[in-house]
Amino acid sequence: MNSSERSAQPAVTAAGTPGVTVAGAVARLSRRLRTAGVPAAEIDASLLVRHILGWSAARLITDGDRYVPFEAVQRLEALAARRAAREPLQLLVGSVAFRYLDLGIRPGVFIPRPETEVLAGEAIERTPPGGVVLEPCTGSGAVACAVAHEAQPGTLVASDRSPRAVTLARSNAARAGLDVRVVQGDLLAPMPLRLRGMVDVLVSNPPYLATAELAGLEPEVRDHDPVEALVAGPTGHEVSDRLLSEGPAWLRPGGWLLIEVDERRAAESATRAEAAGLADADLVPDLAGRDRIVRARRPLR
Ligand SMILES: C[S@@+](CC[C@H](N)C(=O)[O-])C[C@H]1O[C@@H](n2cnc3c(N)ncnc32)[C@H](O)[C@@H]1O
Repeated sequence: MNSSERSAQPAVTAAGTPGVTVAGAVARLSRRLRTAGVPAAEIDASLLVRHILGWSAARLITDGDRYVPFEAVQRLEALAARRAAREPLQLLVGSVAFRYLDLGIRPGVFIPRPETEVLAGEAIERTPPGGVVLEPCTGSGAVACAVAHEAQPGTLVASDRSPRAVTLARSNAARAGLDVRVVQGDLLAPMPLRLRGMVDVLVSNPPYLATAELAGLEPEVRDHDPVEALVAGPTGHEVSDRLLSEGPAWLRPGGWLLIEVDERRAAESATRAEAAGLADADLVPDLAGRDRIVRARRPLR
């Protein structure tokens, strides 16, 4: 008997207090999270309840009048308290959906964002069969894994300075059965030298906030994403500028450089890409229509 079958009956808990239906638990948790200032509290409440019960979204609709089993109420309470304290949902459930993949998430490693799926899509579109792709600043390995999953690169190397990120990226690639090599070090420094001048796509979502912007972030980001994944330096351009100056030598003529940037600095980043000698620099909007990707290529001659 699984926990949901057991949940049809009890209207009273072991302590003698009334039990709660699944729909009631979602509604109660929504109110609690909203009061705690959690954005999209209703969505998080239903995702947490579904995570605890192992239910699909459809089952939440059809079986919402069933009672939550006692042990599930306790586990839900523990996660609700952490979410109300603004711990990110993805850390509580331990995974995140990214394009067609389900990626593991661990404390101390940047949580991939939906807008970065567009960056991955740009890289996938530009990766020829058997091509060479580099991804510095890979974090959980989200972009590299998506490229390996949806395109057919011959060589894909991702890097990160953080040992935790490297471990997680390797585990995510292995879990999905993807051929991604993950190396540790500063930007392009750990990439295999034999690939210099041969890269079809150099894609990166580097840190791009200015130091002073950290304090204004939501607690989920400020207190849980590692600061070195967020902040580039005093202007926010520091890491992308390095990619713009060091990246072109790794590209083959006509190869693409794709960098996620802050929308407030996107136009300036495109100007800097041209100043770095790249051609055809333009901006790509994210899912919300904000300019978030600088796209440029090494001139053919
Ligand atoms: C914004 S996160 C992006 C992670 C991942 N690509 C994603 O989109 O979810 C930036 C990542 O860059 C790494 N990083 C920051 N500075 C770096 C550097 N100089 N060299 C290599 N990695 C760096 C951080 O550890 C972090 O994992």
